[in-house]
This record gives sequence, structure tokens and C-alpha cells, in this order.
Amino acid sequence: MFDSIQFDALAAEATAAAANAPDDAALRAVEREWLDKKAGRLSAILGRIPSLPPEERRGFGAAANGVKQALEAAIAARAAALEELRFAAALRDSSFDPTLPAARPALGSLHPLTLVQRELEDIFTSMGYHVLEGPEVELDEYNFQKLNIPADHPARDATDTFYTRTNAGHPPLVLRTHTSPVQVRAMERLKPPFRAIAPGRVFRSESTDATHEHTFHQMEGLVVGEDVTVAELVGTMKSFLRAVFRVDDLEVRLRPGFFPFVEPGFELDARCPFCTAGCRVCKGTRWIELCPCGMVHPSVLRAGGIDPERWRGFAFGLGLSRLVMLRYQIDDLRHLLGGDLRFLETFA
Ligand code: FA5
Repeated sequence: MFDSIQFDALAAEATAAAANAPDDAALRAVEREWLDKKAGRLSAILGRIPSLPPEERRGFGAAANGVKQALEAAIAARAAALEELRFAAALRDSSFDPTLPAARPALGSLHPLTLVQRELEDIFTSMGYHVLEGPEVELDEYNFQKLNIPADHPARDATDTFYTRTNAGHPPLVLRTHTSPVQVRAMERLKPPFRAIAPGRVFRSESTDATHEHTFHQMEGLVVGEDVTVAELVGTMKSFLRAVFRVDDLEVRLRPGFFPFVEPGFELDARCPFCTAGCRVCKGTRWIELCPCGMVHPSVLRAGGIDPERWRGFAFGLGLSRLVMLRYQIDDLRHLLGGDLRFLETFA
């Protein structure tokens, strides 16, 4: 006959030994003393089962197993507590301060050109414009010929244009000198009437200064319809400039300008929106040259497969890099593509 009180006392003794183990080695010793398969105290107790009367065996086994489970739980709890004590001690001994804020990952930011380009895309898409892209390495035919720029035009001079080497028999390629070739590509793709803009990078072989880069950004605009007028062109320019510069009334002026692919052609200037005495942006002229434009020349419409007897169009070629300069009052265009993070981080 076994006494259940003995088992309670055994459980109390074993779990107290585990709970009081001062370190891992002592805890392992308690484990061995009680639970070792051969020499453990519980194994010895369980070994008595076969000699018990059959009706007592089940209860005896269950009580012995109860001691075993209580001890295993006490050992696991003590092991976790010892681990925690070790971690706390290691923290105390190191210079690691878990209350300090974590190091922030370095976050990038959008380039000012991207910020302004996206803003323009929003403005123009809200006015029903498509946003198009054209190739930066362009066929000579699209960059010049289809835009009514004959072979002897100064814009084709090797000092302005980067020509690429092409295989014999391949049509000549250039790095596009403006976004205007997208006009013809748009006419070939879209059925009139349509409105489209085409922002992108252009390249010119020219010496650089504060307002000139060899690589810069433009944004072409093209509207083709049956009754497109110069008045609509001016109205469109005014609305988007007002939105970009966030002013209610922006004064603009048109001057005659010559571009072989428009007739008539204009230079559109905006009244300097930043003007103060001795303004650095417009250099005291009170006007900023922003956006050449004009009515699309009939032979360009024809080159794009559009009947000039029925359709008319206007086009503009915004100097996107210069607009970014004005928008953020950047005094040198070359900062934009200079790759200096100290400059770019100011837009974060
Ligand atoms: C053109 O490139 C014409 N394709 C624009 C056009 C389109 C006219 C549609 C009529 C109809 P222009 O060479 O002036 O034009 O350049 C347009 C704008 O690009 C200029 O007003 C200026 O803002 C900008 N730009 C010109 N050269 C540079 C340069 N080297 N660096 C930075 N911006 C420049």
C-alpha cells in the first residue's frame, strides 16, 4: 500500500530543489538525481510497481508520474529564470542601452525633377492629356526631317547634336535634341482629336553654364483638333503655369519665335513670379523665357499621317529643367544632375 502524502512530499522536495538551484550545473544535478533513467530516485520508485498488488499499480504509477511532471515543469521554469538572469547580467556588463531609439534606415527621396514632372502630369491629365514617352536615341528622321528641319538647318550642326555610330545600311540615329519627335510619334499612334504631353531627357552637345546643360529635361505638349486656336494655346499655358507657381493671376506674353515645325511660332514668357528688386531669377528683366510654342506646321501634321485640311494643332516645348530651377529658386541648373546628395537631400 502506498501513501499519497509521501508523493506530495516527494513532489515538494523535488520542485524545491529545482527552484533553488543556483546555476545550470546545480539544476542538471537535480535533474540527474531525480530523473536519471537508471539511478534516478523516481526510477527507483517506479521500479517498485511490478511488486505491488495489481489493483494498486495504476494509482501508484499515476502518482509517481505526477511527481515527474511537476519536477519537469519546475526544471523548465528554473532554466528560463536562470537564462533571464544571465541576459540581464550581460546587459549590465555591456554598453548596450536597449532604451536608445533604433538607428533609422537611410530613406531616399524623390528628385526635384521627378516632383515637378509628376505635378505637371497631374495637371495635364486632369485636362484630358495622355502622358507619352519617346526614345532617347532617336531616328534622325523623327528628330529632324519629319519636323520640317531640312538638312542644312543650324540645329543639325554637329556642334549641337550627338550623333551615334550606326551599322552600314542602318538609318542614322541621334541622341534626341528635344522632345518634339514625340509629336510625330503621337500623331502616328493616336486618332485625332487628342491631347498629349511627353516629358523626358534630351541631349545637346553644348558648353554648360548656370542655365545650360548638355543633358536636360523638356516636356512636349501637343493638341490636335478641328478648331484648335492660338487663344486655346495661350489659355492652356496660363492655366498650367498658374497651377505650377500657385498664383491666381499669372501674366504671360507671346513674342514671335522661329521653329521650323510650327507656324506661327512663339516664345512664351511669364511675368517673374518671384520678382523683388534685383531679382536673381529673371535677372531684373521681370520676364522669364519658359516655353516655346506655336501652331503645328501643316507639313508636320502630314508627316504624322494627319490631314492638315481637316485638323489643326498646337504644340509647346517646356524647358522642364528650367521650370524646376524657377520653382525651387535653384541658382544653377547643373545642380540637378550633378549627383550631389547634399543638394538632393534638401528636397527630402
Ligand atoms: C525646342 O527644343 C523646341 N523643340 C520647342 C518647341 C516645341 C517649340 C514645340 C515649338 C513647339 P528650344 O531649343 O528653345 O526649343 O528649347 C526649349 C526649352 O528648353 C528652352 O526654352 C529652355 O527652357 C530649355 N533649354 C534649351 N536648351 C537648354 C539647355 N542647354 N539646358 C537646359 N535647358 C535648355
